[in-house]
Amino acid sequence: MSLVKINTEHLQQFVSSADMEQMLPEVLAAKDELLSGSGKGNDFLGWVDLPEQLDGAIVESIKRDVERLTPKAQVFVVIGIGGSYLGARAVIEALQSEFAQCMPSARPLVVYAGHTLSEDYYHQLLQLLDNNHYAVAVISKSGTTTEPAVAFRIIKAHMERKYGHSGAAERIIAITDARRGALHDIAVREHYATYVIPDNVGGRFSVLTPVGLLPIAMAGYDIDQLLLGAREMRDICRSGDNYDNNPALLYAALRNILYRKGKKVEMLVNFLPNLKYISEWWKQLYGESEGKDGKGILPHSLSFTTDLHSMGQYVQQGERLMFETVVSVDNPHNRVPIPSDESNLDGINYLVPKSLTEINRNAQLGTVIAHRNGGVPVLLINLPTVDERVLGQLIYFFEFACGISGYTLKVNPFDQPGVEAYKKNMFILLGKPGYEGQQLV
Ligand code: PA5
Repeated sequence: MSLVKINTEHLQQFVSSADMEQMLPEVLAAKDELLSGSGKGNDFLGWVDLPEQLDGAIVESIKRDVERLTPKAQVFVVIGIGGSYLGARAVIEALQSEFAQCMPSARPLVVYAGHTLSEDYYHQLLQLLDNNHYAVAVISKSGTTTEPAVAFRIIKAHMERKYGHSGAAERIIAITDARRGALHDIAVREHYATYVIPDNVGGRFSVLTPVGLLPIAMAGYDIDQLLLGAREMRDICRSGDNYDNNPALLYAALRNILYRKGKKVEMLVNFLPNLKYISEWWKQLYGESEGKDGKGILPHSLSFTTDLHSMGQYVQQGERLMFETVVSVDNPHNRVPIPSDESNLDGINYLVPKSLTEINRNAQLGTVIAHRNGGVPVLLINLPTVDERVLGQLIYFFEFACGISGYTLKVNPFDQPGVEAYKKNMFILLGKPGYEGQQLV
């Protein structure tokens, strides 16, 4: 059963049934390309059957590593950038307390490195690591990305000072290519525990490999349920051949219809701050997959009601170039009553009988109607709650829809040639051997 449900009731004035009918053959053809492997970038389709084909031995090994490292680590540092950390962070932050940093826990606190070159960030991280026992996952598919390489060199040196050479090696897990890359070579030389990122799975599609599963399991979340959700959604996405039985077809069709009508920006909206990194992961997934050949919807994200007080004005009355996709969650995990106050000086006693969730739900409905009436198409992705199984379904849904959507747009959704330009300029400016005398691009 799909736990991810798309609600199109606020799209009626923007998308007609004729639009939908016309788009159906295109998205079905795109789905066929994806499943038959006949489209562009077909050497990167390993993620399609990953939830089904992931070796159970890998999951068991991850659990053993978690058991081995948890007693040794108050902090677990995930070193990686882009697809090598965003998926793990999205799931962990969706599930953990907003205040995990300050709460006592039997689980290590997961922190991130290798996604920035800020010197102050590393200074502060080393202060944290001075004062806490820790372990590290260093993740890079290519094994040569500068940001995680720099972070790993700094943290490895710190670890070796703190735990000695072999003590550090016992606390490091490398996740990288099976055969190539500097990280692979370091891991072999230093005898680190390792996991392989399959050749045919690109970084932004790798959350259901050890890239995402190890950090998520370290943080204490149930990776079996995550994979169960992904498997369920894989079956739905593979078999569903119409808009009613395949949410990925429906989502891919809607966004391409809206794009062709000039809606060039998609804003992924949440009303729960713990979904912020789901949006960050989604932005990379769609931005890197579709933004090429002068085409592609610009993925943007907003957290409401917070951003209604900063971006709400633009959404309501600015250029009509966007549509919104609201990730809407039916049931929270907790209740916090609003206290009654006899004096009612703040005038909010009328809210007292209601739950905060009911207030938030009405804020959401009021926002959706206002934005729709202001000319912004709004589609809703309804989730029953936020847990591992639902997140597994959501992740696979977004991945499969991304593949269909990219093929419908007639781009290769599985490469990212544009990411190289900044790297080349950075290497020329920094004087990397081999880049001498080259022109900035
Ligand atoms: O989706 C991708 O392939 C990229 O965004 C990568 O995830 C990112 O560039 C990190 O690369 P690597 O894992 O090779 O260090």
